[in-house]
Amino acid sequence: MGTRADTVVIFGITGDLAFKKLLPALYHLALRGGLGVPVVGVARSRWEDGRLVATARKAVEEVRPDVDEPAFEELAGRLSMVSGDYADEGLYRRLAERLEGAEHPVFYLAVPPAVFGDAVDGLRAAGLADRGRVVVEKPFGYDASSSRALDDKLRSAFPAERILRMDHYLGKEPVEGLLALRFANAFFEPMWNREHIAKVEITLAEKFGTQGRAGFYDAAGAVRDVLQNHALQIAALIAMEPPATAEQVQEARVDALRHMRPLSLDTTVRGQYLGYQDEPGVAPGSTTETYVATRLSVDTARWRGVPFVLRAGKNLRENATDVVIGLRRPTGALFAGADSGSGSPEGNQLHLRLGRDDGLTFSLQVKSPGPDAVSRTVRVPLDLETVLGPRQEAYERLLDDAMRGRSDRFVDPRVIEEQWRIVGPLLDPEQAPLPYEPGGWGPAEAERLGVDAHPERSAP
Ligand code: BG6
Repeated sequence: MGTRADTVVIFGITGDLAFKKLLPALYHLALRGGLGVPVVGVARSRWEDGRLVATARKAVEEVRPDVDEPAFEELAGRLSMVSGDYADEGLYRRLAERLEGAEHPVFYLAVPPAVFGDAVDGLRAAGLADRGRVVVEKPFGYDASSSRALDDKLRSAFPAERILRMDHYLGKEPVEGLLALRFANAFFEPMWNREHIAKVEITLAEKFGTQGRAGFYDAAGAVRDVLQNHALQIAALIAMEPPATAEQVQEARVDALRHMRPLSLDTTVRGQYLGYQDEPGVAPGSTTETYVATRLSVDTARWRGVPFVLRAGKNLRENATDVVIGLRRPTGALFAGADSGSGSPEGNQLHLRLGRDDGLTFSLQVKSPGPDAVSRTVRVPLDLETVLGPRQEAYERLLDDAMRGRSDRFVDPRVIEEQWRIVGPLLDPEQAPLPYEPGGWGPAEAERLGVDAHPERSAP
């Protein structure tokens, strides 16, 4: 833990991320009594403080129509704006004046990568980097070398321990919960290996398209936007060796990623939904993928030969952040499987839902009623929201961590290095992505990789 922050500065306060995530997170912190410091918004747009407060109100109402007035008043009373061009030193002078007396500000850079450099240089030149922490969010660069350049830039201004790299998936309770599932239950560890597991399938599916972010998205695509970071973080939590202590989790994560082979275009299917090219902000003839499915190999004794099938896409049939652990079929011919279409019963599945419908579903074989020795599949769902109640949102948890100087839920730079190495071969290939209809499960060609063509989501 570090010293508690005494001001939060949000670069890009007028942007999409601030509206959808950061302002609601600040409100929720206020609601729980965990804000307590001024919040300074920085942006190019010359907004008055009143406009920022009105925007914050709208942002909060989008997620919580029943706004708690005292909590909102707390937030509103702490908000103020500093406007200017990110390349103009005047902006940082005005910011320094606003921050007079603040010893430990947190600077959250919710700005496009193109202006990261200006913001960091401006903070350093104004002497603000000497005392603050900085939070940067993915995408960390555009590829391995731009990511290193970004890191050099950050390190030129801030000491390593005060740079927090954020992947909001690490702040999600259900994602963090994978550690508890694996290492706090005696059920799973004995079967968590190639002897028992035939396939791991990780799906990040969204029912919606680029939601007005096509300008950003078209330069990124599904590989950079979510595969390189969120999907590989989940894969690392599934693949990692058991860490001996909480402090060892970061090492175990790095180690798991180091054992992942670079992905290959031969075992990847890229897709683009029909209609994408007509969206404002998309380059004519764009070959950006809005869907990717790929097979990842984890080269460890535990996982050798077990495919990790990763897929992510926009405009698919459902919203899902899922991991399906497919077990091998049981040996022995005592029962015939009613659903497997062949002799032995289907392999059990453990279906983990890490999104809003957070929970898990076991698929078990039970005896089919009747005289024959036949088993059939039943699904046993567990809805964690019902059991545990609503949990804090990732952005709220991570903002709170950043304010407290807690760094273990942020991304280790060695992780980012490995993630770029793994996705490197998929970046900007020559061939165009395959078209797919919005509302389906992406290009049918992905079935050859072992993705489940019509996944049955077994939410309770
Ligand atoms: C972001 C991506 O990092 O994650 C978005 O840029 C994506 O494109 C989002 O929609 C998904 O996050 P969540 O928390 O809704 O699963």
